[in-house]
Amino acid sequence: MNKLYLGDNLDILRKIKDESVDLICANPPFNTGIDNKEYISVFSTKNESSTHTCTWDEKAEDARVGIKERSESCKIYKALNEYLSGYDMLLSNAMTGNKGAMRAYLTFMGPRLVEMHRILTETGSMYMHCDPNISHYIKVLMDAIWNHDNRKESNSFKNEIVWYYRSPSSASKKYRRMHDIILFYTKTEDYAFTTPKPIYENELFRRYTVKDTIGRKPDRMQDDKEKYKRIRTRTDDAFLRDVWDDIGILSPMVAERLGYPTQKPSLLYTRMIETSSKEGDVVLDPFCGGGTTLDAAQALNRKWIGIDSSIIALDVTERRLKDRYNLKQSDYEIVGFPKNFEEVRELASQETKHNILAYWAATRLNLMPSKNVDKKSDIALWALRDEKRSDVRFVAEFKAGKPSPDQVRPLLEYIENDTTDIVILMTLEPVTSEMQEIAGEIEKFKYKGLTFPRLQFWQITDKFFKDPESIYDKLKIPGKLRVKPTKKSDRRFPDIQFDSSTK
Ligand SMILES: C[S@@+](CC[C@H](N)C(=O)[O-])C[C@H]1O[C@@H](n2cnc3c(N)ncnc32)[C@H](O)[C@@H]1O
Repeated sequence: MNKLYLGDNLDILRKIKDESVDLICANPPFNTGIDNKEYISVFSTKNESSTHTCTWDEKAEDARVGIKERSESCKIYKALNEYLSGYDMLLSNAMTGNKGAMRAYLTFMGPRLVEMHRILTETGSMYMHCDPNISHYIKVLMDAIWNHDNRKESNSFKNEIVWYYRSPSSASKKYRRMHDIILFYTKTEDYAFTTPKPIYENELFRRYTVKDTIGRKPDRMQDDKEKYKRIRTRTDDAFLRDVWDDIGILSPMVAERLGYPTQKPSLLYTRMIETSSKEGDVVLDPFCGGGTTLDAAQALNRKWIGIDSSIIALDVTERRLKDRYNLKQSDYEIVGFPKNFEEVRELASQETKHNILAYWAATRLNLMPSKNVDKKSDIALWALRDEKRSDVRFVAEFKAGKPSPDQVRPLLEYIENDTTDIVILMTLEPVTSEMQEIAGEIEKFKYKGLTFPRLQFWQITDKFFKDPESIYDKLKIPGKLRVKPTKKSDRRFPDIQFDSSTK
């Protein structure tokens, strides 16, 4: 059964059986600092994000010690330990600055790559999508792990693929970066490899012509549908070379975009999966983000496993699977998300999991992290996942234990200093009448001719799991949760087909 895991991929990879995955497509965070900050502040729940570090800290030190310990009894960890010892010297045991960050990053990636190698089948392959700042470090790391036993004459490394794209960014006093690196490794010489298929011109254009279900205006090409219906194959052989220049980045307006900051084009992952696996094979993405790999795997009839430590990422992924394939939570195994009230309670009982719960609850309310996060005060601002109403600012807080007026007072400040329009306090028990009174006294929020209470309460109960719409028995917010799957014709992007008869 297909699986979606919320959590640190190291813990989850360690539970996956040896040689049980046919293809791994990984696109980890890039150690740019920006990536890290982004996930910590908005796109990940604070407690779990501690898994990826950009500084040489106690956690990195512990991870390093862990590797040393494992290296005493395990050959592959021995190879990793030797590699890292080399870098310890090369990076002069750096603890700070860029060098410290690189050491921490490699210490983070190392054990994960060891586990990925272990779970790959003998005929399996792996694509490692990274940026040119780290690709050379990762390549040597993968060489050490993939060739640790020197049992083969040949090299597991197959290609360094340059994904070339037109980037809108500018650079001063250096050349503009317009590519990512994708390292292609196989476990043995006996691996699946089907010559990749060309991308038809209509594939590229169709992505611009499908109406986006979240209401975002599609590209103006929408009006020109007929023009782009014609089907033409690119005449060159971009798809056969190790420079892929026939797949562009997702422009901000493209309908395929789901709002996940590091989302990659599905055509890119479709190519990897089509080339390096067969129908029914298991494809794993241990850093699955907005679910690009899983989407492509589903379209191509592969089984899939996705892991991400960010609940926001998995929220996007879930919606994507629902919109594209009408897949519900019961159609795949989902681990780490609460599935009933008991599991909500269980998370609430663990102090370190409160953020997960708060983020889970906010995403159930059809909210997504807003761009205007107030970094100074550390409150997350949310917006409705609805273009037409995304200007309404929310603060969504979860409080465990018995609700009390003391929990409300600090929240009122957000309203008083106009940081937010609506505050939602999520609880497990009913709120007190005094809390209701406080809420009733606050002037209402006026929006598009309607009024909404500025302080509202959502008591999470089992009823919600049976009937998500019941959320609106009490809550009054300008946009409603979309619970019904969209019609196939309204789905965000077209089914990807590479049908040679359309040539
Ligand atoms: C570059 S993004 C992947 C984007 C993805 N390819 C897509 O198209 O949406 C990297 C992802 O790794 C996740 N991540 C970072 N550290 C992780 C960890 N230790 N375990 C699982 N996921 C992690 C982040 O939350 C982020 O979603």
